[in-house]
Amino acid sequence: MTELPSGAVTFLFSDIEGSTRLVKTLRDRYPRVLAEHRDLIRGAIARQAGHEIDTEGDAFFVAFASATRAVRCALEVQLALEAHEWPEGGRVRVRMGIHTGHAVPDQGDYTGLAVHRAARICAAARGGQVLVSQATQNLIEDEEQELEFTLADLGERRLKDLDRPVRLFQLAAPGLEEAEPAARPGADGPGTGGPGAGGPAGLVRGLAPALTAFVGRADAVEEVCGLLEGRRLVTVTGPGGVGKTRLATEVARRVAGRFADGACLVELAGVQEPALVPAAVSAALGIPEVPGRSAMEALAAALARQQVLLVLDNCEHVITAAADLCEMLLPAADDVRILATSQEPLRAAGEARYRLSPLPVSGPGGPGGPAEAGESEAVRLFADRARRVDPHFSLDAESAPVVAALVARLDGMPLAIELAAARVEALGVAQLLDRLDDRFALLATGNRRAAARQRSLAAAVDWSYQLLSGQEQQAFRQLSVFPGPFTLEATQAVAGYGAEPAVLHLVDCSLISPPRPGADGRARYLMLETLRAYGAGRLAETGEQGTAAARLAGYALQVATLTAAGLQTSAGELAAAHWLDAEDASMQQALAWALEHQPSAAARLAPALAPWWVTRGRVTAGYPLLRAAVERAEPADDAWPAAQYWLGYLASLAVDSLTALRHYALAIKGVATDPRSPVLVDATSGRAACLLHLGLTAEAAQEAGQAADLARVIGYPAGEARALIGLSAAAQYAGEEDKALHWARQATRIDPQAIPGRLVRQINHDLAGILVDVGDLAAAEDSCVTELDRARQAGDLQSQSSCLDLLADLDQRAGRIPEAARHLAEALEISTRTGSLSRVISCLNNCAHLCAATRRWADAVTMWAAHIAALKELGMTDLPAAAERRREPLRTARQALGADRTRAAEKRGQDMTLAIAAELAIVLTGTDPGSPQVPPGLDKLSRREQDLVVLVARGRTNAEIAGQLNLSEGTVRSRLDQIRDKAGCPRRTDLIGLALQAGLV
Ligand SMILES: Nc1ncnc2c1ncn2[C@@H]1O[C@H](COP(=O)(O)OP(=O)(O)O)[C@@H](O)[C@H]1O
Ligand SMILES: [Mg+2]
Repeated sequence: MTELPSGAVTFLFSDIEGSTRLVKTLRDRYPRVLAEHRDLIRGAIARQAGHEIDTEGDAFFVAFASATRAVRCALEVQLALEAHEWPEGGRVRVRMGIHTGHAVPDQGDYTGLAVHRAARICAAARGGQVLVSQATQNLIEDEEQELEFTLADLGERRLKDLDRPVRLFQLAAPGLEEAEPAARPGADGPGTGGPGAGGPAGLVRGLAPALTAFVGRADAVEEVCGLLEGRRLVTVTGPGGVGKTRLATEVARRVAGRFADGACLVELAGVQEPALVPAAVSAALGIPEVPGRSAMEALAAALARQQVLLVLDNCEHVITAAADLCEMLLPAADDVRILATSQEPLRAAGEARYRLSPLPVSGPGGPGGPAEAGESEAVRLFADRARRVDPHFSLDAESAPVVAALVARLDGMPLAIELAAARVEALGVAQLLDRLDDRFALLATGNRRAAARQRSLAAAVDWSYQLLSGQEQQAFRQLSVFPGPFTLEATQAVAGYGAEPAVLHLVDCSLISPPRPGADGRARYLMLETLRAYGAGRLAETGEQGTAAARLAGYALQVATLTAAGLQTSAGELAAAHWLDAEDASMQQALAWALEHQPSAAARLAPALAPWWVTRGRVTAGYPLLRAAVERAEPADDAWPAAQYWLGYLASLAVDSLTALRHYALAIKGVATDPRSPVLVDATSGRAACLLHLGLTAEAAQEAGQAADLARVIGYPAGEARALIGLSAAAQYAGEEDKALHWARQATRIDPQAIPGRLVRQINHDLAGILVDVGDLAAAEDSCVTELDRARQAGDLQSQSSCLDLLADLDQRAGRIPEAARHLAEALEISTRTGSLSRVISCLNNCAHLCAATRRWADAVTMWAAHIAALKELGMTDLPAAAERRREPLRTARQALGADRTRAAEKRGQDMTLAIAAELAIVLTGTDPGSPQVPPGLDKLSRREQDLVVLVARGRTNAEIAGQLNLSEGTVRSRLDQIRDKAGCPRRTDLIGLALQAGLV
């Protein structure tokens, strides 16, 4: 055999798709099929002078000195496999990956990043497909010889374990399957990710698919992408209608693949209060707020674990809040980058500004050049939009110069061009130009100070508006009251029942965007921000503003009443929550308006929204709104007591028992004249929960008992269920397990259809916990599995993490260690993401048990020490049963370790912050007990690099590390990027995990 190639080596990996299935179908015929497949491959390797480095099972690893020959080999193999006669059900389909990189053979083998990369590329292929990296493609392109194949560009892909996305090509030749269409990273994904889920790489969350073509702007996209490489905050600025939002979304689609958690669009246009900006970002990302922490803190904590691009769209009206957000978020979350759009720069630290100009109005060939060939981007946009209204529209010798003049008149402003093009069918291009000119003359006088392009847009909008009939104009003005997408029913509520034809006409004129389905599946229209601002101005002039806002509030209250009823039942829960998700902006606006102008409406609207705030984790933002509503309402208002009850409930979720007790007392006072009020039942149960938290077990039991009695008398099933689980919890804390079981069972007997889904899940979960205490593990497991399933269906993260935590406990008691680890890992992941601290603390205890069960004594002691330290810090009491269960394994662990090692392990746990302890628990649940001690990624790092990793794992931000080591932040960032590449850790938290696993922290 000739010598193995060195230097630029091309690696080819292959394996059989679905080999397990083949083994099953073919049984004893499989070895023969495998051998035939090997012969075919080896023939091709020999013909193309390849070197077989390793063969394992159905996988080949081959090295080539020539890139072209490697690809030829793959082609020959695929054609041969295709032509071969396989036994029935035994058709062999092989996936292949090829990559070229620098490598030096070592004792007949190769190691290193290039090999890893080639293997990953292979893993990304389908059976019958050959994927080729850009490095290999470049070499082949350079060879300039006649080739019997082509390489089709698939675009960038993110591959497992590789930090940066890679551009891939697919081998195409006669006889092979067709190439798939170019995969656009971040191509239109679903509207939203799962609640709270970090989106997968390449996915752009919150972005509806584009309905119209994106025209030109190649340089702008390139430049903004480039800016985002080097800077963490980039703001696209320019006047309304110049195309900032459109550019930002195109950029997001383009670069989403570079972010492990993709990109997320946050629409700020509908956010009324600057204080609500962090909550809006959290909502877009699906990050629930954390009771007791500001929305900003919760957001920063959650984002510290993600690698994501945030697109903050339309910052201008909340510019200071947006700038503050960037300045707080960026230092706290090193892997987050922000792309903002705003009429002005945010003037935040480290911001790079990109000034977006209107579209070029003269083409590459200059004005007057031949149509099509030399047409400008502005003309192309006009032609594209004109063709949408009039399929016969074309640019010819006659129309091209007029259109060129027209778009020049409109200063290349995309929005103005769209509005003009929408009228082309009715007016034709020549008339269009005349009419516009008239309008410009009219407007030019009053508006001298504004920039020309702003004037031209204003003129185009105004002109488009003047062409509407009186009724259409009125509808347009009134619809500008919607801060976000709106349904046809909503337009009727605001603009009257006769508004439908007007709405349809507005869509035709591009003054409203065509309907798209929202989070609840209902179709909704949208008005672009610039047009909305124009409409709002007109609305104010005509004095109709108050009426329109009041109608919107009326509509919002109507929706909120219906959804509140839905949220009270198991069956209606999901649809109601999605409906509110889709109406979010309108609800916010209506509530803000009602707080100022109609306190009694606000006092109804806010409590109706409260249960949804709870399911969506928006308690922190909701509480002050609800409190404002209550403060402005009259205590005599019949909505007042329920509002006080909800205030108490929201406060109790934030573990603020004293405040909660005060609200509950006021609620009870408010219904003093009505002894049969459901509010009385719930507020009494609420008091019981607070008392329990304060350690007053007997008093808690007494209050819960009263609530249960009253609920029964007045026939209020949900109230009775809440009271019964209160009784059960009190008994559990008193160590009276039989009683606890009795009350929990009583609660399960209440008709689940008649109470909220969330409550049903809570009852069943609590019951399962008590069943574990009394030793009925089989029943506990049944209940837990069912509830987990339901919680997943309902998107209820709180219940999911509590069920998973309990399931992990059950697995472990039954000796199913891998399942226990899997369930616990997921429980930890969800509870850290949702900031559910008490659940995280419980998971630490569970993790310690898991370590003890696998004889990892030091880790067990560390986890228990961290668990107990955290309990103490939050002033939480330990359940008697939990303390009892820990005693024995803890003693064994201490014995096994001896005094010194026990002390060291304890100290490690006590010194950890809760966040780091959770991180360690995630690592421990992910480690196979038999795996080597030092994780593979770390030994690739130098001593200095490892030191840097330790600083990261201690929770230091890049800025802090830079300060400590006297380096620039940019240097720290690029060093860490290299480290992450080497260690195969796409996210910062993966590095932290590596360091914890190796015991460096
Ligand atoms: N390059 C472009 N290609 C196609 N349409 C565009 C382009 N730029 C802007 N538009 C369209 O022009 C209108 C206004 O753009 P938008 O991005 O909303 O402006 P801004 O955010 O600056 O107010 C939108 O309908 C948008 O789709
Ligand atoms: Mg915009």
